[in-house]
Amino acid sequence: MNPINHVAIIMDGNGRWGLKHKNSRNAGHKEGLKTVEKIIKETIKNKIKYLTLYAFSTENWKRPKKEINYLFDLLEVFLKSKIDDLNKQNIRLKIIGFKKFSKKLNKLLELSEKKTFKNKKLQINLALNYGSKFEIVNAFKNLCKNNDKINLKNMNKYLLTKNIPDPDMLIRTGNTKRLSNFLLWQLAYSEIYFEKKLWPDFNEKDYNKILNKFKKIKRNFGKI
Ligand code: IPE
Ligand code: IPE
Ligand code: MG
Repeated sequence: MNPINHVAIIMDGNGRWGLKHKNSRNAGHKEGLKTVEKIIKETIKNKIKYLTLYAFSTENWKRPKKEINYLFDLLEVFLKSKIDDLNKQNIRLKIIGFKKFSKKLNKLLELSEKKTFKNKKLQINLALNYGSKFEIVNAFKNLCKNNDKINLKNMNKYLLTKNIPDPDMLIRTGNTKRLSNFLLWQLAYSEIYFEKKLWPDFNEKDYNKILNKFKKIKRNFGKI
């Protein structure tokens, strides 16, 4: 049985769910947050140590302002109301992405990270304003600036996922088969699961089904 240490998820399909059920994309984002809570609980139950959630990509800035503002308002309300609870549950929150938001949100994100820094049960990496290509270019830039030797070990040091093991598996909901600029480097050997359900419809049972499938496969890493 394969151990699962790190699950990464592209939480896709909120907009379509919202349009279908409530005639509003934003309603889908709100509903999607309920799935986030369910999946966090289930991740802990499964004793998984790292959960990386793709919440906002560097490309998502191309969306209408109204949707972007709604998403960040939702995040703000979520963090304000839940961070103490996450902290009590021994969960660490880490933002991976380029923190270029409003002053208020930047502060809230930093505070949330600081508050939960020492927690050990589960580390949630929230990918926010995250883009893998930019991350890799940025890593090279800093590596060269510091005159470090170019090698794999040093490269890992400059990525936003420094000190985080690579994901064992990636799940993408929403019936779309692409990576959308997510963890291109780190997913080199991850198992990939594309799920037809939209993110708000995804539930514990679906999640466990995928986890169980993963446990049974043979991972080669180039060997036989
Ligand atoms: C993913 O859902 C959430 C974010 C990108 C913030 P989408 O908003 O992309 O939902 P669809 O793919 O349009 O249905
Ligand atoms: C990927 O979903 C980003 C997040 C889930 C945050 P998108 O819906 O933005 O991806 P594309 O644009 O359809 O590839
Ligand atoms: Mg989408």
